[in-house]
Amino acid sequence: MLNEYDCWFQKRQITVPVKLPDVIYSCASGEIAAQAARELQNGIKRLTGFSPVMHVNPDLNRNAFFIGVISCMENYFHLPADRLAAGGFLINVKEDRIYIAGQDEPGLLYGVFRFLSLLSLGQIKDGFETSDSPVSPLRMINHWDNFDGTVERGYAGGSLFFKDGVFDYDSGRVADYARLLASAGINRISINNVNVRAKAKLLITEEYLREAGKLAAIFRPFGIKLILSVNFSSPWSLGKLPTADPLDPSVALWWKERAALVYKYIPDLAGFIVKADSEGEPGPFQYNRTHADGANMLARALEPFGGEVIWRCFVYNCQQDWRDRSFDRACAAYNHFKPLDGAFDKNVILQIKFGPYDFQVREPVSPLFGSLLKTRHVMELQITQEYTGHQIDLCFLPQVWEDILNFNAGRQGRRIKDMVSPFSEGEANIEGFAAVVNTGKDNNWTGHTLAQANLYGYARMTWNPAFTAKEIADEWSVLSFGEGETARRISKLLLKSYPAYEKYNAPFGVCFMVTPGLHYGPNIEGYEYSRWGTYHRADNSAIGIDRTASGTGYTEQYSKENTAIFSDPKTCPENMILFFHRLRYDYVMRNGKTLLQNIYDTHFEGYEEAAAMLEEWKNLKEYLEKEVYESALSRFERQLENAREWRDQINTYFFRKTGIADEKSRKIYS
Ligand code: GCU
Repeated sequence: MLNEYDCWFQKRQITVPVKLPDVIYSCASGEIAAQAARELQNGIKRLTGFSPVMHVNPDLNRNAFFIGVISCMENYFHLPADRLAAGGFLINVKEDRIYIAGQDEPGLLYGVFRFLSLLSLGQIKDGFETSDSPVSPLRMINHWDNFDGTVERGYAGGSLFFKDGVFDYDSGRVADYARLLASAGINRISINNVNVRAKAKLLITEEYLREAGKLAAIFRPFGIKLILSVNFSSPWSLGKLPTADPLDPSVALWWKERAALVYKYIPDLAGFIVKADSEGEPGPFQYNRTHADGANMLARALEPFGGEVIWRCFVYNCQQDWRDRSFDRACAAYNHFKPLDGAFDKNVILQIKFGPYDFQVREPVSPLFGSLLKTRHVMELQITQEYTGHQIDLCFLPQVWEDILNFNAGRQGRRIKDMVSPFSEGEANIEGFAAVVNTGKDNNWTGHTLAQANLYGYARMTWNPAFTAKEIADEWSVLSFGEGETARRISKLLLKSYPAYEKYNAPFGVCFMVTPGLHYGPNIEGYEYSRWGTYHRADNSAIGIDRTASGTGYTEQYSKENTAIFSDPKTCPENMILFFHRLRYDYVMRNGKTLLQNIYDTHFEGYEEAAAMLEEWKNLKEYLEKEVYESALSRFERQLENAREWRDQINTYFFRKTGIADEKSRKIYS
């Protein structure tokens, strides 16, 4: 039975084929190592009922857990020659002696957590050996939490950190949160919304920094460093300078002094994240400066303290005239940032949304990946379900991410997942990931209990982008529900959810048929005649945007191979064909059916699949905790309602536009 607060840390009595030692010897002494030892002690208690005791002086003749950093473990056991990366670990089980060694203290912590997971997964036995290292150095979580306690695009209750304009949190809960994140490998967290408005601007003032420092101290033993979102205009909005021009020496000085103050309270702060010249946020364009000017100025302020600037590339004109067909928002990020490749300081990291639009259910991977060879960068994903069902609808996002990670960026012939590694000049390396998180004050953290799988999945996939969605679904289900039939069925349910969601949502990569502002439920022309630049341009005979060389030219931003693939409707992946092409409704797709018939069919199917998911959940009733069953049940019911609305509105819209009936004569509501 699942206690939903505990997520993948369920209490249960497991049977282990080895005799677990009753003593822990730790040869590391830092704060993170001490946490690792405590986690091991508590974790063993959680899974077996007994708590091993901690000893300082090792007795090498005893059966025990021997844990520490690799440099001090040589005396205990023979270490393999292969080097681990930072954060890596190895685990060795020899009869009743268990060795967990980290490359460094965070590595030890990750090793302990992995050992506990493997114990729950039934994989620990005599002779067991494994070693693992994170593939991405940067594994970040972004909170879009506002100081008033609300969460932008949050669907799981209020902020875990703020309320009524001040820091307001339950430190026990924050520590539990840090444990959840660290257990799956997260090492950075930004705590406030990238839209830094109202009181949030005060975060870099003494009064608030004192509190931020206390929060940082809760995350620190878990190897997680804080990042603060800052407002680019702070020198004038906060500092009362006449300008925030990044090339003005008084502005640069203001930031240097501010950085010194910030680091006084949070000495290990990872850095600042900045949303500049984006959706109304201030930035260097106001002063006719480039984004490199802006980012580098901040980077130089943080550099003496080892801090980094994470600079978002979500820069586009959101005041577009819908009548102007020559301008294409999809081109914006590449147009702004590709010319600046190599112009950024070494402690600037660009944060690029995975697609050219905005976390759509299906959109192509941004052409910036594979193009930036001289600039550090990470990929931004979205765990919070802004466009994927608000944590009312089940939508297992590791499936979305798996597709993204498998995309072949063309340049240097590599898939996204093969490009993830530490930065190296001249290579298109992606240094890691950031994602807008889906957690809040709800008891189960994520609103929909099964949406916990998205948080877990994000962390695991950023640790190693080679993990598949299926591996993650299976692992998460067993950790949460225990080994057995229930876990197997829940894993299958997860894996059915994204295909179903995509089918009843906007078809074939067309994007933005969603209710404006809210972003839940259909509104087919909701964004069509607005300023946001996200149009589908459906008329009576055709739909979609020609983004080829003869259209907006977006396809030309890709590698030669990808330009060729995307430019031809015959080779363009059909699940995003309307993103790249304007097609007549009678265009015949690869399955021999017209585009219109495919739209009808997918929407009928998506609804049926949502109905089947609800039935499957009902069938699981007797195996689930009442609270878990009921809260998710009401969500599955609302999801079916939502799927029905999408199906009926989309199908009706196209039926009205074309006057062409469904070839299977199903009822299309008019
Ligand atoms: C989307 C989202 C906003 C958010 C923005 C961003 O547009 O709807 O709420 O602020 O992305 O990523 O900055």
